Amino acid sequence: MSSRSRDPKSRGEAGAKKPWGGRFSDTLDPTVERFSASIHFDRVLARHDLRGSRAQAHMLGRTGLIAADEAETLLRGLDLIEKEIAEGSFPFDPALEDIHMNIESRLHHHVGSVAGKLHTGRSRNDQVATDLALFLREVCLAIERGLLGLRRVLVERAREHVDTILPGYTHLQRAQPVRLAHQWLAHVESLGRDASRFRDAHARIRRCPLGAGALAGSTLPLDRQESAAELGFEGPTRNSMDTVASRDAALEFLSHAAITMVHLSRLAEELVLWSTTEFGFIELADAYSTGSSLMPQKKNPDVPEIVRGKTGRAIGNLVTLLTVLKGLPLTYNRDLQEDKEPLFDSVTTLRDSLEVMSGAIATLSVRTDRMAEAASDPMLLATDLAEILVRAGVPFREAHEVVGRIVGHCTRKGIDLRSLGRADMQSFHEAFEAGADELLDLERSLESRSLAGGTARVRVEAALAEAETELDAEERALEAREAADPASSRGMEAS
Ligand code: ARG
Repeated sequence: MSSRSRDPKSRGEAGAKKPWGGRFSDTLDPTVERFSASIHFDRVLARHDLRGSRAQAHMLGRTGLIAADEAETLLRGLDLIEKEIAEGSFPFDPALEDIHMNIESRLHHHVGSVAGKLHTGRSRNDQVATDLALFLREVCLAIERGLLGLRRVLVERAREHVDTILPGYTHLQRAQPVRLAHQWLAHVESLGRDASRFRDAHARIRRCPLGAGALAGSTLPLDRQESAAELGFEGPTRNSMDTVASRDAALEFLSHAAITMVHLSRLAEELVLWSTTEFGFIELADAYSTGSSLMPQKKNPDVPEIVRGKTGRAIGNLVTLLTVLKGLPLTYNRDLQEDKEPLFDSVTTLRDSLEVMSGAIATLSVRTDRMAEAASDPMLLATDLAEILVRAGVPFREAHEVVGRIVGHCTRKGIDLRSLGRADMQSFHEAFEAGADELLDLERSLESRSLAGGTARVRVEAALAEAETELDAEERALEAREAADPASSRGMEAS
């Protein structure tokens, strides 16, 4: 900071007169003003702030804390502001620090000194907590929508590929054959748990911060029940100190977002691997890949790569807020302003990642021939040979050992497992009643994996039907929750 900026006389117009003025005789140092302003990011909360302010104006009017016509004037001013924000003509001013004071100051501009009555019994501390609660409810619903959409795409693509067989992998080594539908339904499972986490988080945001004041409520007879009801909460929060100090709803969102991004990243990694020449299992649509500026032959899987890369942010954002919170004494501390950028960033990152992954998966083409070729490796059925022995009464450990010897024999001799005839097989164990070629059959192998959760066709068909029914039910329930709180389900157009 230069000494110039510390000299009160040199600040002139740059430093704003504080709106809570009385206590202060000097304006804010310009560097401090820039350092502490949050309007360049918390403007995302404009709609939520207006919603909270309307509830506040209604409540003040109905309780008689302000006159009915004053409440109407305030509401008229708030309408004008909403219009300005929607049209992009609202004059956001960094000298007014944050979204709350920008809106309040603009209200003065529109309706004059009665604007000063809106903040009756309210502090920016309960105000920002209210804005965040409204914002979080909205984004939880929107992410649930996004997760529903991606799962629908995966289930639709899985339907097309019940009979597409590929190797399933452990340690990225070919392990056992599976249906592609089974593999895609695996991702539907993890993303379904993610959706339920956002549903839980949404349900927990059920008490309204408004009326908690700076930290200890108010001497004025506010009606917290009424403003809570108007904003769609079950009731007011139960402890004014906790209300202005806590940010765990944001933490919860960030943590669910980090987990979901990790799941998307693993799915993305699969797409990256599968689109290599080495695997050649899929080809991404042109709209979801890019070329190289240097190598004309390249088609790069940038979309899944960026999703994988952005997962780092989502994890970082969670760690950022955990770290901001960990040393804070009750109640409000200005550090809490650092909750917003990580939160907004995770919202955008997750929302966009869900959208591009849905598009990439909906449009990719599957190279069923390449998958089939990889799945035809007879070694994938080695476990089946061991299980044949188990059925004949051989202890599994011994059976595993026997088949291990067979595999070693083939590898050393460089021969195909299927070339071992009945006599060869019996030389390893007399319980083998046929040659390997007869014992091993890909289709039979898959079909015999018919336990619950398995990859047999009946199981996969049932899992698909179950997933479809569940997604339909989830969609209906989500629609009902969106309708119950229409202001909270406008998607995330402002973020
Ligand atoms: N911009 C502030 C924040 O996001 C609003 C609350 C300010 N409260 C205060 N006491 N300075 O945390």
